Amino acid sequence: MKGVILAGGTGSRLMPCTKVTNKHLLPVYDKPMIYYPLEKLIEAGIKDILIVSGPGHAGHFLNLLGSGKDFGVNLTYEVQDEAGGIAQALGLAKDFADYDPVTVILGDNIIEDSIKEHIESFTKGAKIFLKEVEDPERFGVATVEGQKVLEIEEKPKNPKSRWAVSGVYMYDNEVFDIIGSLKPSARGELEITDVNNAYIKNGSMQAAFLRGFWSDAGTFNSLLRASQLVKEKMKNEQ
Ligand code: G1P
Repeated sequence: MKGVILAGGTGSRLMPCTKVTNKHLLPVYDKPMIYYPLEKLIEAGIKDILIVSGPGHAGHFLNLLGSGKDFGVNLTYEVQDEAGGIAQALGLAKDFADYDPVTVILGDNIIEDSIKEHIESFTKGAKIFLKEVEDPERFGVATVEGQKVLEIEEKPKNPKSRWAVSGVYMYDNEVFDIIGSLKPSARGELEITDVNNAYIKNGSMQAAFLRGFWSDAGTFNSLLRASQLVKEKMKNEQ
């Protein structure tokens, strides 16, 4: 299993804080945002991690994280030239994956649960991680029947459930063929939700349910919330 952190995008919802830097370099409580997905993958035992970012700030990630030696892992960097969506960014990981399965984390997702056991038991197909939320219309929303996911809708106006699809995904190597067959969505992007729906259609999608906290950090409210959740967790652990 290899790890991929997707840290591109323009961070438009966090302007002007993202005018001269990348969203994933902003602080979540006491660390740059990207440390959280990175440490999550490292804690789960992943040794080879690719960071995909946009052209403007790729060098800043390298300056911050280097070769990965300080973290005991190997870091590789890739640039997504245009903002073509999460699935397009993941497509850039094909050579890096080299037929191994990948665990993908969106760089602005902060999750409390460990994903170690899921990584160790993963063999094929795909796995997504769901969390019940108050504002599902902000996310990919899953319709579930027991453990089974029937469908995912991207940011629906009238969500059919409160199960948000978090930004942590596990895929076998077929993901790159699926990405290759995708058409851009109405907003002109290759959508990760279309990738997940392709796995659902061919019957090889599994779902897990997050127990601990989860937050994205792409808006001022969620960024503040993520910092508060991290601070609270640290206080409880003291
Ligand atoms: C993306 C995905 C969405 C997912 C979310 C998790 O949305 O498209 O399905 O629920 O990440 O953070 P974004 O927030 O990048 O628009």
